[in-house]
Formats: sequence, C-alpha cells, structure tokens
Amino acid sequence: MTGVGDRQPPFDAALDPSGDRAGGRLGRPEGDARLTECVGRKEGARGGTTGSPTLVLGIETSCDETAAAVVSQEGEVLSSVVSSQAVLHARYGGVVPEIASRRHLELVTPVVRQALEEAETSLGHIGRIGVTQGPGLVGALLVGLSAAKAIAWAGRLPLVPVDHLEGHVASLYLRPEPLEPPFLCVLASGGHTLLLAVGERGRSERLGTTLDDAAGEAFDKGARLLGLGYPGGAEIDRVAEDGDREAFSFPVARVPGLDFSFSGLKTALLYAVRELGEDEARRRRSDLAASYQHAIVRALTARLREGAEETGLERLAVVGGVSANSALRAALPEARFAPLDLCTDNAAMIASAARYLEPLAYPSYLGLDAYASAA
Ligand code: KG4
Ligand code: ZN
Repeated sequence: MTGVGDRQPPFDAALDPSGDRAGGRLGRPEGDARLTECVGRKEGARGGTTGSPTLVLGIETSCDETAAAVVSQEGEVLSSVVSSQAVLHARYGGVVPEIASRRHLELVTPVVRQALEEAETSLGHIGRIGVTQGPGLVGALLVGLSAAKAIAWAGRLPLVPVDHLEGHVASLYLRPEPLEPPFLCVLASGGHTLLLAVGERGRSERLGTTLDDAAGEAFDKGARLLGLGYPGGAEIDRVAEDGDREAFSFPVARVPGLDFSFSGLKTALLYAVRELGEDEARRRRSDLAASYQHAIVRALTARLREGAEETGLERLAVVGGVSANSALRAALPEARFAPLDLCTDNAAMIASAARYLEPLAYPSYLGLDAYASAA
C-alpha cells in the first residue's frame, strides 16, 4: 500500500495547476496553505486513522455547476460544494457551453480543495475518485474528467466513471435515510424525464421517457415565456406560491404507455400569454405559473402512480432538479425525495454512485472520453 507520505508531493501538484504552492492564479493563498497542512495530517482527519483510505471524492461538471464532494463508503456526506454559474449564463437565457467550460476550468481546483477542507480530510484518505463521464456538455464534462484523471493518477487511485443519471438515482442512497431498491423512480431534470424501475443499485429498467421536452426544460421554457429568469424551474416554483393553480386549465398530454410529453403544454402557455396580452399576462403571472406548474406536477405524479400499479413496486421516488419543486413534493407525500441540495446537480450523488460501481484500476482510465448523450 502506498502511504500518505508517499502520496503527498504528486497529490499537491494535482491540485495546484499553476505549480505555485504559495497560491496560484486561481487558488486562495490560505487555501493552499491549509491543503498542504491537511495532506500531511493523518491523525484526526475524517476517514479513520487506520487501514486503507475509504472516502470517495466526487467531481461533477456536466452542465453549469462545478461541484466536488466527499462521501464515506457508508454514504455519509462529509462535504458537498457546488459552485453555480447560473448568474453567468442568465443574461443569455440558458447555458452557453463555451462559457461553462472556461468557468469549470477556473473553478474545479478550488472547489475540490474546498470539498476536502470542509470534510476535514485530505487526498491521502481518498480511496477512489468518482467523476461524471456523461451525458452533458462535452467540453464541460472533459474539464471534470481531466481533473479527476489527474488527481487519481497522481495518487495511483482507481477512478469510477459515473453516468450523470445514475448519479441522480444514487442521491437516494445517501445517509441519513438511504432508500433500498427495488423502487420506482421518476428522474426529471433539465435534459431527461424517465420512469425507472430500479431493481438494485446500478441496475434499472427504463419504463418510460419523454417524447419531446424534458420536464425541467418545460419549466425553463415556461419561465422564459413568463418573463422569469434562468434557471426557470426555481423561479416558477417561487412565483407560483402566490398563484391559483386552478386559474388556467393547461392540458396534460396523454401519450401511450408510460412515456411523457411536455411540448403541447408549452404551446398552451404560449397561446394563453398571447391571448392575455403583455400587461395582463404580467399581472396574472403567479396564476399562470401556478397553473403551468400544476400541469407538469400532474403529468409526473400520474405516471409514477400508473407505473406503480403496473409494476407492483411499492416504494416510489423522484430525483433530478425538478424533484426540488415544492408543489411536486407536496403532491407525492408517499414518495421519497432527496434533500433539496441533492436534487439539483451536485457531486455527492456522483460520489454516492462511485461507491458501488466498478472502478477502473490505475492507470487504465487515462484514455477515457466523455459522452454527450444518454445511451
Ligand atoms: O438535475 P439538474 O440540476 O440538471 C440537469 O441534469 O439537467 O436539473 C436542472 C433542472 C432545470 O431545468 C431547472 O429548471 C429544474 O431542474 N429545477 C426545478 C426546480 N429547481 C430546479 N424545476 C422545478 N422546480 C424547482 N424548484
Ligand atoms: Zn442533473
């Protein structure tokens, strides 16, 4: 086994892209100092004082959040740092891939460093690195993947490439109340809407998917039509609080099987806004938001319950960014949701998945590529 002392120089280098120990271009000087201190300190650091390192470091950069987290093998979240770029992209009304990649590049090292600091641990206690391989923006993914490879290589650690969607499901396996499969799960994010029968950790059957827009996309596009900011889901959630969800009757698309469809709903909102006219639509924004949100919530809850009836699965869950929605959470008291900060993109869920997925041994992962779309 490689000792902590043996690992120290390459691990420091892996987290210091400038090569400047006193504080590089991107780092905070005091952060560097503390990291150096942490690496050499085994006693008292989180992760135990004996045996092989067991903590998992997760890295997530698939879209516009730069995130790193430290999770124990048992699923305790020791730290979860998420640096959102939302304000950077807001003026464009959506994520600009090139801007996202450049920002990830600036943030990935300080964010990893902060995750280690907040977990009161060091790279010497990390047993494996989990990183999002896809789906997502390839340029953004490559930043996290390259950082993860460099850190893993420097420490001769195994690396676990994690599918982002598996990561969302794995948010349910974290402490304090890990959900055990089998269960039926709606995964609703900005890019995907899936109904999954999860048989065991890492194994699920896809029972339904969206035929057009994802639920999160419907929230984002709806928010844009209502003149709300980006990202739209949280904005609609907030504005809908003061609205009457029965004020407008928006349709829930009926498609065969257990699939979803949201594009008709978006068009219905567009027509409603046009019919009301700009001023009236603004005056009734809360009612429009509440009614629109209610239609998405009805679509998701209906499919989850229909799926439960078809499969006989009793445990229900919802994951992905949309699972942060307050109306959805209230509409499904029988379902499990991750805590709010683990619903939207984060690295704790990636580290969680990396606990049970097959790792790639050092250094076989160096040629690993990112992928943009789900298989
Ligand atoms: O999982 P996620 O953070 O990123 C992707 O993997 O896409 O999901 C982002 C999506 C966005 O479309 C965002 O508008 C939506 O989740 N979202 C919400 C809420 N918070 C985030 N949708 C509805 N209500 C919310 N409170
Ligand atoms: Zn996501």
